[in-house]
Amino acid sequence: MASSVRSIIFSFFILLSLFPFSIAAQSFGSPFLHAYSSKSSSSSDILYEVKYFTQILDHFNFHPKSYETFQQRYLINNTHWGGAKEAAPIFVYTGNEGNINWFAQNTGFMFDIAPRFNALLIFIEHRYYGDSIPFGDKEVAYSNATTLGYLSSTQALADYATLLIDLKKNLSAEQSPVLVFGGSYGGMLAAWFRLKYPHLALGALASSAPIIQFDDIVSPYSFNDVITRNFRNESESCYRTIKGSWKEIDEAFNRPGGIDELEKSFQICKGQVQNGGLESWIQTALVYAAMTDYPTASNFLQPLPAYPVRQMCKAIDDPTTGNNTFARLHDAMNIYYNYSGTQACFNLSDSGFIGMEGWYWQVCTEMVMPTQANREDSIFPASTYDYSKEALSCEYEYGVPPRPHWITAEFGGHDIKRVLKRFGSNIIFFNGLRDPWSAGGVLESISPSLVAIVSAQGQHQHSKFLSSTLN
Ligand SMILES: *[C@@H]1O[C@H](CO)[C@@H](O)[C@H](O)[C@H]1NC(C)=O
Ligand SMILES: *[C@@H]1O[C@H](CO)[C@@H](O)[C@H](O)[C@H]1NC(C)=O
Ligand SMILES: *[C@@H]1O[C@H](CO)[C@@H](O)[C@H](O)[C@H]1NC(C)=O
Ligand SMILES: *[C@@H]1O[C@H](CO)[C@@H](O)[C@H](O)[C@H]1NC(C)=O
Ligand SMILES: *[C@@H]1O[C@H](CO)[C@@H](O)[C@H](O)[C@H]1NC(C)=O
Ligand SMILES: *[C@@H]1O[C@H](CO)[C@@H](O)[C@H](O)[C@H]1NC(C)=O
Ligand SMILES: *[C@@H]1O[C@H](CO)[C@@H](O)[C@H](O)[C@H]1NC(C)=O
Repeated sequence: MASSVRSIIFSFFILLSLFPFSIAAQSFGSPFLHAYSSKSSSSSDILYEVKYFTQILDHFNFHPKSYETFQQRYLINNTHWGGAKEAAPIFVYTGNEGNINWFAQNTGFMFDIAPRFNALLIFIEHRYYGDSIPFGDKEVAYSNATTLGYLSSTQALADYATLLIDLKKNLSAEQSPVLVFGGSYGGMLAAWFRLKYPHLALGALASSAPIIQFDDIVSPYSFNDVITRNFRNESESCYRTIKGSWKEIDEAFNRPGGIDELEKSFQICKGQVQNGGLESWIQTALVYAAMTDYPTASNFLQPLPAYPVRQMCKAIDDPTTGNNTFARLHDAMNIYYNYSGTQACFNLSDSGFIGMEGWYWQVCTEMVMPTQANREDSIFPASTYDYSKEALSCEYEYGVPPRPHWITAEFGGHDIKRVLKRFGSNIIFFNGLRDPWSAGGVLESISPSLVAIVSAQGQHQHSKFLSSTLN
């Protein structure tokens, strides 16, 4: 038994180390919160059975309320499983802040490797997302801090633990080793699950997981530094045009007729520019283009061409609707927001961010990741990270203040090399250096079984690219 477990871990590591590409599920945003839209780029040949598990509301207290339950969704595919008798492994995706179907459909990698390992595949949905909503429905669950208070990473990890224990019991598969997988926030959960529940998970593959983007461990400038570098590397003039645009937009706001001019140049729907939000709408496009700068066309928040950063810079350097800054920037926005060519005018309040209330709550409580500072040479206006401003708006929104140091207290992060070297093992960290989140990831191997795989060209990348490489 022990030797078969070792060989699974070993071949797992070998297999993965052969393919030095970052894999991940969809991006997640702290600067600009995002949604997993229902329009999916998924492959329809990915199949699973949908199951529900009666989950306890609160794992950590014994108040009467703690004992309430909700239905937690998980997906299962046993086609390739070698079975309990063989102690064949169980590969578990630790769900992120969204609908679990989306992650299953976009983590073809697990389906690809399942036959090689005779693995059972499980995808567990994160509480408060998708179909796994406590308190009966979303309306109630999301109404205020009293009901949202049960939405946290620690509760989610405990959900995964209790569900897995029960599932293994039902399958008589106590001997089967579990390996956890995840990308982005799901990647953080996978790594943390391995560290916190070593009796349940033998190893983890954490992709694009910024587990040290907390406290003051990494610079709050690093996230936007990567975005700046990505655009600047495409074209210096593109970078300069974007960098210069903020001042021009600001000036336009303050001169008579300027708002009309912005509305016309950017082809924004009537009456929307004056309400504000133009700059953040542009910034969202720049951030997400950088984060999803894949070598193939994709469809996460928006349908996008291959290499959207390059395409946006081409549009800026060689515009079609006019030669001034606004026309150039419009043409770049047209790549990001109108690749399908269906927008008659741009709607500033319709940038794909739907259903993100849960993630707002999470960043306003524990997932406090300082990323929003900009150096003088940033593609965005220079700024410093202002925690107190964020804390104020969170308190205003939810009536409770964030706990910015809780994640590092609970999971660590400071001095991570020394700490993990002493007690951690069997985690693979994937990162692509073109991913703005990579700066908060583990980029250096820590020990022979704590391995960092870094791809110089990698984005906040999706497993389908690893899968296609594997095939
Ligand atoms: C499991 O996934 C494989 C590969 O995508 C598929 O062929 C098979 O039908 C699926 N099995 C179930 C039970 O959905
Ligand atoms: C919070 O929401 C719940 C469910 O909608 C409601 O019963 C409760 O009164 C609310 N509490 C506060 C303090 O608003
Ligand atoms: C295990 O089986 C019991 C009894 O059928 C069921 O209620 C429970 O949901 C199952 N656990 C999982 C994780 O599916
Ligand atoms: C910069 O862009 C060039 C050409 O587009 C590409 O070959 C190179 O790898 C890029 N460098 C970085 C650091 O992204
Ligand atoms: C931009 O300027 C160039 C050179 O002055 C000119 O040839 C081109 O037609 C202009 N493009 C547009 C869209 O106005
Ligand atoms: C969107 O693309 C279509 C087709 O290229 C174009 O006609 C339309 O003007 C674009 N919309 C905006 C708002 O630029
Ligand atoms: C813009 O989007 C919002 C939210 O989706 C919608 O309510 C509104 O009607 C849209 N406005 C226009 C002009 O399309």
